[in-house]
Amino acid sequence: MSVPHRPPTNLLQSRRSPLLVFAGQSNRPLAQAICDNLGVPLGRSETVKFTNDNLIVHYEQSLREGDVFIVQTFSTPVSDAIMELMLMIDAAKSASAGRVTAVIPYYSYARSDKKDSPRISIAGRLVADLLQEAGADRILTMTLHAPQVHGFFKVPVDHLSADVVLSEHFKKSVTDSHDGVVLAPDAGSIKRASQIARRLDSGLAMIDKERLSDTEVRPRALIGDVRDKTVFIVDDEISTAGSLVETVNIAREMGAKDVYVAVTHGVYTGPAIQRIAGLDVTQVASCNTVHVPESKIEGANGRLAVLDVAPLFANAIRNIHTGDSVSTLFS
Ligand code: R5P
Repeated sequence: MSVPHRPPTNLLQSRRSPLLVFAGQSNRPLAQAICDNLGVPLGRSETVKFTNDNLIVHYEQSLREGDVFIVQTFSTPVSDAIMELMLMIDAAKSASAGRVTAVIPYYSYARSDKKDSPRISIAGRLVADLLQEAGADRILTMTLHAPQVHGFFKVPVDHLSADVVLSEHFKKSVTDSHDGVVLAPDAGSIKRASQIARRLDSGLAMIDKERLSDTEVRPRALIGDVRDKTVFIVDDEISTAGSLVETVNIAREMGAKDVYVAVTHGVYTGPAIQRIAGLDVTQVASCNTVHVPESKIEGANGRLAVLDVAPLFANAIRNIHTGDSVSTLFS
């Protein structure tokens, strides 16, 4: 009877899943920057849209046993971005990837996190279910609209924060940042604002606001003192810039000296760019979790700046791959 050949134990132990990073169509510049930081090439894949609007995804290299990271942000067209990511996860699993991590720098459906009117879907949870059903083993994301959205996933979630990047940006922009006031545009952003205020050693203020519709908000009061101060407005995202316009206007009415804005996700939908172009602020900065095309930067009257979070994502991916702790990157 012949004895089946087994490789020696040390050969088995030396096999390590290769680190493979791929990207959907939504933010390839960020995916490329992450790869540059990691020192690996961006993986080869192709997505085609048929005339009937269906998508097909094809990997052009082997993924077998690979530790696969797929970078896809949820920016316009959001439904295509989600569908493409699900197809990429499913195709990677079918191609025998060892582990698949969905890297979602901006998880837009986090804004749909509760049933705040009758007969609606909690879409943030539904999209989480879909990604897991497609086969995602882990999620890596940044600044969820509400941190508890993390709990919609049963698989591990590494939730990065851009607060260090925003704070450092304010410090570089203003020499006496400790004399300023960090202004939270609503109650939901007060925790983040307070952490950034501590980093800058500055004061803290908050606006009590009411949302009237998708594009309109109404501020009710400014709690704190911004008179003759440099004001730093921080938020998770700018979408239509409705919140931003009202926040800046009330800060100005209350006597703010200069106004700087920094948010994690610069989504800039609908009237946002036009609104920012006419805004009485020194600068509006956002991170590259969402790709901001040159045309939008030009349209905003030289007021837009883009901050790079690729090194944060690259560090997180490196640590997830090697099994090291990621928690130092959370704060
Ligand atoms: C609201 O709760 C968020 O923190 C942002 O302020 C909001 O999503 C921004 O949306 P928009 O720019 O459309 O006012």
